[in-house]
Amino acid sequence: MKIGHDYSLLPHNTFHFDVRCRHFVEYDSDDELKQLLDEGTYFEGPWMHIGRGSNLLFQSDYAGTIFHSAIKGIRLIDEKESDVFVRVGAGELFDDFIAHCVSHHWYGAENLSLIPGEVGSSAVQNIGAYGAEAKDIILSVEAYDVGSHQPTVFSTKECGYAYRNSRFKQEWSGRFIITHVTFRLSKLPTLNVGYGNVKEELSRQQLEPTIENVRNVIIAIRRDKLPDPDVTGNAGSFFMNPMIGRRRFELLHEAYPDMPYYDVDEDNVKIPAAWMIDRCGWKGQQVGNAGVHSKQALILINCGQATGQEVVALSKAIQYSVFQQFGINIEPEVNIV
Ligand code: EPU
Repeated sequence: MKIGHDYSLLPHNTFHFDVRCRHFVEYDSDDELKQLLDEGTYFEGPWMHIGRGSNLLFQSDYAGTIFHSAIKGIRLIDEKESDVFVRVGAGELFDDFIAHCVSHHWYGAENLSLIPGEVGSSAVQNIGAYGAEAKDIILSVEAYDVGSHQPTVFSTKECGYAYRNSRFKQEWSGRFIITHVTFRLSKLPTLNVGYGNVKEELSRQQLEPTIENVRNVIIAIRRDKLPDPDVTGNAGSFFMNPMIGRRRFELLHEAYPDMPYYDVDEDNVKIPAAWMIDRCGWKGQQVGNAGVHSKQALILINCGQATGQEVVALSKAIQYSVFQQFGINIEPEVNIV
């Protein structure tokens, strides 16, 4: 177990804000977490649990305890004719888990390649990319109940997954601490290359659609389009793509015929926030030390010495102009603390 006081969160948030917390507690096992819960000391004041801090924006120092899981392990726990069941520690890097799946030819996770973050947060946030979401491969989630100090297991259905959302983010926030996630992957070669420009990239590079090539192409696309958080502070997509009613969309589409969209269901349509932000002229703009990435308008960046407040101010200005132009509210995907 590692415990720090007046601790810098610089290595724990991908925006690279130099904020501090009162206490920082990193535990390595279920037993250590149980011990922390039983002692209760660090749960007395304000507390929060973080993953890799890749979807997090601190506006100031945190006057409480930050917990972080270092529970590791990627273990094959069961195998059927066509599926494998893999139990992964919450503190594993999500992309290390994907690399493991790809090297074993376990299908289903490869489209989520290179998403920053840890396995525990993937189950809170229901991360997604290229037509895949964490919920598609999650079978169950193990967590400790902060009230009763007891371990409990949730099925995927109980977690209430939706687009970048789950019960852990909503009504269960602060109630459970995730220790392990069990994923179900397929041994049958089923790939989904129909989203974004994955298919085009494969054929441009004259690559067979194998699991390794899909992973490599997605990594290359992401590296090309998204800023590397190790170099430029950012937290991936800052906003979620808003969903609007079809009637409203049709009116907007008349005014903006080139507006891209994804059909959600019969009544609803999702609009890429990136496109609207771009249309409002924000791409590549900088306000103070905060900026909008020049290759993807959905990504806000720390241009050097930005504070969380500067990034939030920029995000509000963007929300305002998108609302002025399109009458649509865009909501942050990033957790603002
Ligand atoms: N677009 C623009 N301007 C831009 C960027 C994009 O007009 O600056 C247009 C594109 O041409 C395209 C549309 O907006 O028509 C959508 O863009 P893109 O395919 O790049 O995806 P996105 O909707 O912006 C989502 C996820 C990403 C994920 C990609 C790829 C959300 C909030 N974001 O982005 O997830 O990698 O799809 O599947 O759903 C993340 O969550 O951190 C993240 C990066």
